[in-house]
Amino acid sequence: MLLMMLSLACGADSLGNSADVEAVTQLVQDELDAGYEGWDQLPGYEGVIESSSVHGSHVQIWVNEAALGAVEAADGGDMPEGAMLVKQGYDDAEGTDLGNLTAMYKDADFGWFWYSESPDGEVLEAGDASACSGCHSAGQDMVLVTTW
Ligand code: HEC
Repeated sequence: MLLMMLSLACGADSLGNSADVEAVTQLVQDELDAGYEGWDQLPGYEGVIESSSVHGSHVQIWVNEAALGAVEAADGGDMPEGAMLVKQGYDDAEGTDLGNLTAMYKDADFGWFWYSESPDGEVLEAGDASACSGCHSAGQDMVLVTTW
């Protein structure tokens, strides 16, 4: 709990409004709880795939309708508000050895809201996380797995 509060407070730095961070964290967690594993996966990236990133030797990525819509539109535009991409990291090819669960959610106020939790549910990152965006800034609208 203390760690969670520290990371929430940390995420609030740039906006200085921890209430917003808590609200968006809750929204992201509600989305995750509602069953992201039933969401679509990007063509060519179905199931457990190899990763060269910090997210684990293997990963699996799900996208919600808003994010998929942007990729399918393929017009080079940014992801719309409400877009969410979720990634489960694994330390094995079978996808049994769970790493962190990460998510990026396009919020009206924050822009991309970064979220990460450990396999036992401890919140590691929530908000405007430079640890995430620094690496992801190489992607199209911060998305690294594909372009559109
Ligand atoms: C050192 C670089 C690096 C850092 C730091 C990083 N990521 Fe990623 N991330 C990647 C790469 C590369 C991919 C593309 C898929 C793959 O190869 O695993 C990715 C993919 C993702 C995806 C799937 C959507 C996409 O952009 O492709 C999510 C969600 C994600 N990362 C969340 C996060 C969060 C949250 C953090 C911070 C806690 C974070 N990442 C930190 C490199 C990074």
